[in-house]
Amino acid sequence: MSPLTPNPMPLSTPYPDSPRRAPLGTRAKPLPLIIDCDPGHDDAMAIAIAIARPELNLLGVTVVAGNSILPNTFLNTRRVLALLGAHDMPVAAGAAVPLVRPLFTAAYVHGESGLEGADLPEPAGRVHEAGAVDLIATLVAASPEPVVLAPLGPLTNIALFIQAHPELISKVSHISWMGGAVGEGNVTSAAEFNVYVDPDAAAVVFASGIPITMVGLDATHLAKMGAAERARLEATGNRAGRVFSDLLGFFEVFYQERYGWDYCAIHDAVAVAHLVDPELVAVVHAAVDIELADLQRGRTVVDWFPDRLRDRGRAASVDVAVGVDSARFADLLVDAIGQFA
Ligand code: RIB
Ligand code: CA
Repeated sequence: MSPLTPNPMPLSTPYPDSPRRAPLGTRAKPLPLIIDCDPGHDDAMAIAIAIARPELNLLGVTVVAGNSILPNTFLNTRRVLALLGAHDMPVAAGAAVPLVRPLFTAAYVHGESGLEGADLPEPAGRVHEAGAVDLIATLVAASPEPVVLAPLGPLTNIALFIQAHPELISKVSHISWMGGAVGEGNVTSAAEFNVYVDPDAAAVVFASGIPITMVGLDATHLAKMGAAERARLEATGNRAGRVFSDLLGFFEVFYQERYGWDYCAIHDAVAVAHLVDPELVAVVHAAVDIELADLQRGRTVVDWFPDRLRDRGRAASVDVAVGVDSARFADLLVDAIGQFA
């Protein structure tokens, strides 16, 4: 599958067509899924897709510090669950700080609360008091089928789960992670936010052997929602449509000021949508290494050229997202949100 929409940040080299290796949910066999997130405007929209789509069976939601401090991302998550009517969804708070480094947050993108711009309901969700790692372990152990993890923030909770429960790694079928970039980052020119915040956790997860799809900025910058999509959300006439339209209005300000775009990029939603739509995302099989030091901290070093991989003794074990069908994505997200009251 070739790149699907002209990329505003084009990759300099062509890449080989590579078949997806992430599992695909179907109505007949919904994928068991756990989302780990740091809402976050785009996290909220990813959760909406996960709940709306019959091809996914969202078992629970865990929360990490990232876009804002943990109390905020946890409250935001529970407000989004309430908005989506998921009052009984298991939800748990996880890491308040990265594995090693101090927390770096993104109020400059998501606002002080982490989810500014809309009138959100009182929180809901069935709080799992033992915390995120325990909730992931409990859900994975109890699932009759292997579970997909969709981390949408820094990988701290996932790394802690892997370190605490090596016996459960075999029951994680795939990780569909929003993070990283082949090309330019968004915190520094080298690093995307989720990996910049906790590169050490990313290194643990990428070394775990769990199959990964890395849904990075090269693809997610094509997951566009602008004024036309906001009008479509308003036209749904439901509260969720209005709230998400308001959230998009706030979220877009950063993209206008940083990039001069008249739309915002719904990064996290692509990592979840990839699990239900085989035509949405183009991937390339590549090796990915995480840079931990200094100015390149958090750079995801992505390589797919066979001769270079051979010389380095590396396998192209990661699916790296390199393209998205923007129109198809917008329809999928608007349709998902339109299903709520
Ligand atoms: O770089 C984009 C990512 O960082 C998204 O997950 C966004 O929610 C923030 O967490
Ligand atoms: Ca996020």
